[in-house]
Amino acid sequence: MPSETAKLYLSHLLAASLSNLKLTPYLDSVDISFPEPKFGDFSTNAALILAKKTKAQPVEISKQIIEEIQKIDDKKVFGEITTTGGFINFKLSDGYLLKTMQAILDQRDLFGCSLLGEGKTVVVEYFQNNVAKPPHVGHLRSAIIGDCLLRVLKSQGFKTISDTHIGDWGVQFGILLYAFKTLKPDMDVLEKDPINELNKLYVAMSAQIEAKPELRDLAKAEFKKLEDGDEQNRKLWQWFVDESLKDFERYRLILGILPFDYNLGESFYEKHMPEVLAEFEEKKLISKGETGELYVDLENFGLGRCILIKSDGATTYHLRDFATYIYRKKQFNFYRNIYEVDNRQAHHFKQLFKSLELAGYPAKTDSVHVEHGYMSLPEGAISTRKGTTISLQNLITEAEKRAAKIIEEKNPDLENKASVAKQVALAAIKYFDLSHNRKTEIVFTWDKALSFEGNTGPYLQYTHARIHGIIRKFQISTDNFQINGKFQATNFKPEESAVLRKLVQFPEIVAQVTEDYYPNNLCNYLFELSQTFNAFYQEIPVLQEKDESLKSFRLNLIAATAQVIKNGLYLLGLEAPEEM
Ligand code: ARG
Repeated sequence: MPSETAKLYLSHLLAASLSNLKLTPYLDSVDISFPEPKFGDFSTNAALILAKKTKAQPVEISKQIIEEIQKIDDKKVFGEITTTGGFINFKLSDGYLLKTMQAILDQRDLFGCSLLGEGKTVVVEYFQNNVAKPPHVGHLRSAIIGDCLLRVLKSQGFKTISDTHIGDWGVQFGILLYAFKTLKPDMDVLEKDPINELNKLYVAMSAQIEAKPELRDLAKAEFKKLEDGDEQNRKLWQWFVDESLKDFERYRLILGILPFDYNLGESFYEKHMPEVLAEFEEKKLISKGETGELYVDLENFGLGRCILIKSDGATTYHLRDFATYIYRKKQFNFYRNIYEVDNRQAHHFKQLFKSLELAGYPAKTDSVHVEHGYMSLPEGAISTRKGTTISLQNLITEAEKRAAKIIEEKNPDLENKASVAKQVALAAIKYFDLSHNRKTEIVFTWDKALSFEGNTGPYLQYTHARIHGIIRKFQISTDNFQINGKFQATNFKPEESAVLRKLVQFPEIVAQVTEDYYPNNLCNYLFELSQTFNAFYQEIPVLQEKDESLKSFRLNLIAATAQVIKNGLYLLGLEAPEEM
């Protein structure tokens, strides 16, 4: 199985050397980082920290640590170890770089995997589509980032549970039911395209309510009937849900995202809400407001009131989320519970986690709102109701059109043109979301979202396909890569060493995503790797190289790069065609 990363190995060496030197290891504040390449592959502030604590000179401490580490680095992972400004800098040895390249070629699709998360369950909640509404570009972020996190967590040995937590409950269903009953849609039309037609009904009724607010009460009454189990309303609602689930599954397949383990919508938690209320009541967490509403008082924490039951007796979105957390905790005994939801709900999640903490749950540490910035259009917010929206379907159709056109220009003889165009189109769409720091707001424009140049998904795919072109040209079999026995790892050319050093970082970058949930770091890494590779291939002769063992090393380096790009693309949820 894949072995520990160089960074992890270094942290063990560091801990061991500090303990051998009888320096109290203040490991809490000691960190290991990736410095600028001119300093080395890793840096640590250990000497600075210890110097401060022991009142010794950092140079003195550095010297002792370096000597000790050199003594115990029996795998010879590190070559040169130097110090600058109190930092200790580590350079990976050429032998280790070469070994890693071999490991990539041996482990292939498994390179980058680890057992970091063994025995730990993570719930990932994403793609919280709303029933009876067509998903739009804004829903994409949660789906795509969530799917990437799921893939990364799986690759690190976590047991994952994916759940879409669909929006299938609330007053909007009263509006829809009321629209259905009063606007009397043509059933033949409705059944042909249920989601779009239901959405039209909803939009029409919302407009009527806006003009005549008293209609809202009639709509609310329909929701109340639904909540109370009215047979007709339940049946209609179930039909809305069933049709929507079919639609979500269709999108999942088009988007190429992993299957969902659960679609436990908000309605699922209805039956659990009374227990939650009772539990909160017993824990003395519930206050009663001026108009009879029930809430958890979070004023002392600057978080206002978290309403559980409204003054008209209706349950809230918050209450359903309490029930969700508690259910997941009992059912899955998760180590971590991730909500991939846009940042407009940041306050909601703060209230949720704080209240749960007051109720004695470890939500502060075991749950995280992995928030993303909201996507809008140049003309303003996305709103299906106001017609300012781009449906997922239109986005995909347009992307495929553009990708097909480019392929037609660049490689008209390509086999499977249509399927490659689909793969490239999706890569553009997904990478657009993944490569932005997830916290940033995105203004969607067609040209940016469907760009194929620069730091984009298609560029990475293209680099990968180009390498496969080289492999085909040299007619090397990728099945039995072996470093030529005569090859000596001495004096790599800077371009070779740059590629090797980037390759080594891959497992570290992937592991990091399981800690901070920033897929854009993986995107940036793959982009840098591609650029580093392209610089290498431009500068260093491979074909013309006379020395057979050197040539074989370079071919191996090429193949290892293709493998790492492929593995990275997989984790991002992108296809890696070998020709395009
Ligand atoms: N369906 C919700 C919405 O559209 C998002 C759900 C977020 N997840 C949660 N557990 N509250 O706003």
